[in-house]
Amino acid sequence: TKGTVEGYMPGFGNDFETEALPGALPQGMNSPQKCNYGLYGEQLSGTAFTAPSHQNERTWCYRIRPSVKHTHRFKKIDLPLWKSAPLIDPDIISLGQYRWDPVEHTGQALTWLTGMRTMVTAGDVNTQTGMASHVYLVTESMKDDYFFSADGELLVVPQEGRLRFCTELGIIDIAPQEIAILPRGLVYRAEVLEGPCRGFVCENYGQKFQLPGRGPIGANCMANRRDFKTPVAAFEDREAPSTVTAKWCGQFHETKIGHSPLDVVAWHGNYCPVKYDLKTYCPVGAILFDHPDPSIFTVLTAPSGIEGTANIDFALFRERWMVAENTFRPPWYHKNVMSELMGNIYGIYDAKPKGFVPGGMSLHNCMLPHGPDQQAFEGASNAKLGPEKLDNTMSFMIETRFPQHLTPFAATAGHLQEDYIDCWGSLEKKFDGTPGVK
Ligand code: FE2
Repeated sequence: TKGTVEGYMPGFGNDFETEALPGALPQGMNSPQKCNYGLYGEQLSGTAFTAPSHQNERTWCYRIRPSVKHTHRFKKIDLPLWKSAPLIDPDIISLGQYRWDPVEHTGQALTWLTGMRTMVTAGDVNTQTGMASHVYLVTESMKDDYFFSADGELLVVPQEGRLRFCTELGIIDIAPQEIAILPRGLVYRAEVLEGPCRGFVCENYGQKFQLPGRGPIGANCMANRRDFKTPVAAFEDREAPSTVTAKWCGQFHETKIGHSPLDVVAWHGNYCPVKYDLKTYCPVGAILFDHPDPSIFTVLTAPSGIEGTANIDFALFRERWMVAENTFRPPWYHKNVMSELMGNIYGIYDAKPKGFVPGGMSLHNCMLPHGPDQQAFEGASNAKLGPEKLDNTMSFMIETRFPQHLTPFAATAGHLQEDYIDCWGSLEKKFDGTPGVK
């Protein structure tokens, strides 16, 4: 990989410009009659041409070969554990509260493609609505092997190990406590920097993730635009028999080419991969009483077309101070029209002191009740309240307006906790008709 500079540029949604060779980027125009270095100019459109200007995303690439040279005839291939919506198996009951232990490493050599295991799907990939959530187990780097998905962007949440994404637009390295977004259509190769790697992926079929509006919170706090980093240009001028795999309408296809497609020498635009350090997320919360809705912890939101009703919200529950007076502090009991999938990155989650472990997941589907287990309820109801730091905790929630359907892998795998529903079994009836706090 060649580049004159390495590193990242800050500011999600900014118009960036970067060149790995001096003078490779045209100035003042996008399509000169001839580009410097004999490069080809090409536009990558991440939104419709006519999307509103504040949402319009595109990037101009100046590359060694145009992308038409990076695919040839496709043949279909099977990646049996990477599933897409709609996938509704009549033998699987998705109606329920579910929780999973971490998916264990197998000892098998697995790449970013073969190591993807879909847990749930929602909506419909063909109509670009909804999402899928996956767990990845990766032990091997892709070599002369590249991938792009036309089906959606991937939000990557590592839980173990370090990954490198060598993309058309530069290099992104991520580790646990960071996330990355790999845009729809972007070609890349995933490498293992430190394995084995395990983590979560949210595949967003719909409108792109963006920062939520902060409303009266104002111009700061929560996730800040400058903390999202996009890579500087880096390119490969390598001739070798290579494979490009494409995910398109839920199916996988393979094409053979004779060179690396990561050949963008310079680019400018705002449609690009980003990484974000979750430790820079500044939580805002209740400072006198009550427990606000978890939407206050939204990091990113992907709109659905209905205002305020997301295709996906990505929320982060991290270290924070609890100070609310006379308040039941853990998440309250709840039924939700939205469907909530959670993953634990590290530590202990306050509503579930046991059973929801790092690498594990839980699902509380559309209108399925959930809330603290008996231990959390009794502890929080009887605690002497004072300022308390919740430490060693980082979990996230993927919340979608669409019901989530379990895949056969999720429904039958050994890591499904058969007894999760019993975590509420020991909650007592305290009501006896007489007034007073029980
Ligand atoms: Fe909830």
